[in-house]
Amino acid sequence: MKLRRWTAVAAVAVATAAMLNTVPATAGRPYDPTAQSLGTLGQRHGLHIGTAVDMDALADPADPRYRELAASEFSSVTAENVMKWESLEPTRGSYDWAPADAFIDFARRNDQRVRGHVLVWHNQLPGWLTSGVADGSISREELRELLRKHITTVVSRYRGRIWQWDVVNEAVSDPWDTPSTLHYKGFWAQHLGPGYIADAFRWARAADPKALLFYNDYNIEAFGSGDPANDKTQFVYDMAKRLLAEGVPIDGVGSQGHLGTQYGNFDTFQVAAALKRFSALGLATAFTEVDVRSRLTEGVLAGDSEEINPRLQASASNFSVLLKACLADRHCLSYTVWGFSDRHSWVPDWFDDPPEGLATLYDEQYRPKRAYQEVKADLIFAGPPYVLPRATHRPRR
Ligand code: G3I
Repeated sequence: MKLRRWTAVAAVAVATAAMLNTVPATAGRPYDPTAQSLGTLGQRHGLHIGTAVDMDALADPADPRYRELAASEFSSVTAENVMKWESLEPTRGSYDWAPADAFIDFARRNDQRVRGHVLVWHNQLPGWLTSGVADGSISREELRELLRKHITTVVSRYRGRIWQWDVVNEAVSDPWDTPSTLHYKGFWAQHLGPGYIADAFRWARAADPKALLFYNDYNIEAFGSGDPANDKTQFVYDMAKRLLAEGVPIDGVGSQGHLGTQYGNFDTFQVAAALKRFSALGLATAFTEVDVRSRLTEGVLAGDSEEINPRLQASASNFSVLLKACLADRHCLSYTVWGFSDRHSWVPDWFDDPPEGLATLYDEQYRPKRAYQEVKADLIFAGPPYVLPRATHRPRR
């Protein structure tokens, strides 16, 4: 009798844990949250944990672990490159949809949400477009029409398959740019004026009434302490507020979250305060491209653990700062890393002088790093009263 009672109690405990944690406990084995994927643990809070996906690595038969983890560890995915204009329309009027279709299909088969990246950006534009503008064979009016056509064509093709779209990316300058006064930068502002931003959101909305439409940028993790006129986060905040006041269907702001351990960065309260100000405008937020790189000093490259350990711990701490702030704000809907393994990270190619790296959750052999453990711990231990289920965000008309 006694044994039966305890078995019953144990069974209830397991069931309760499973119900509480929306994760089936394996009969007889105590529920072990550390055995769950980041995506599954994020669901405890309704928060989607995502990754950028490199389609070349995904298709590489010699790299099966990449595909396994991309499919199993994350509940949301973003195409690292194949949904960018240069990939989709390499030749004017002829589209190469295959890599993007394969990406969308991968997400569907793994029941993952998709963050569409990216409709309007000054980088990775097709050569025929930039050279046509440069040599004057593409007029301003034609350029605007080409942009409308691109957004309409891409968004219509994937209507109903995209949860969040990065409609406009990195449209705002940085204090170190010239002129240093913050302004709208890049190809589109230069050739169409800043009005292209509102146009892009309206065209995207017309093509997909359901996708959440985001403005996405880097270095907007927190408001600055100095002159607001020099504060990029303030500029993006004011821009979003103005777009909302003009009835532009912007639903959210994405903070990329590309950090470096050599910089001061932010504490969780500073990041949480920034998210709160954006959500107070009625906007959703998301961390869209999180990675935390470190300088690859000679000591690091020589394998000196006294050089490596502090960097791995600092990287983990910064991943956690952004995640804790996101967990604490019900309007922060997703937390996406920009690649999950140091084996496939844009950082070493981009930051090569001085060299930087060690930026992701897994090392080159797909061994989870301190950063992975801290992200997992944050998802497991977070809960009421400070971490609540996500708020519902509906697309603006
Ligand atoms: O596809 C060509 C390939 O044909 C060629 O052989 C190879 C060798 O040069 O280059 C390949 O193109 C590369 C492309 O990634 C695809 O792998 C480009 O050179 C390379 O510059 C490009 O880098 C991407 C970068 O955006 C371009 O700006 C990175 O993978 C990607 O992670 C990065 O992502 C951006 C986000 O979209 C926006 N926010 C910042 C983030 C990091 O820069």
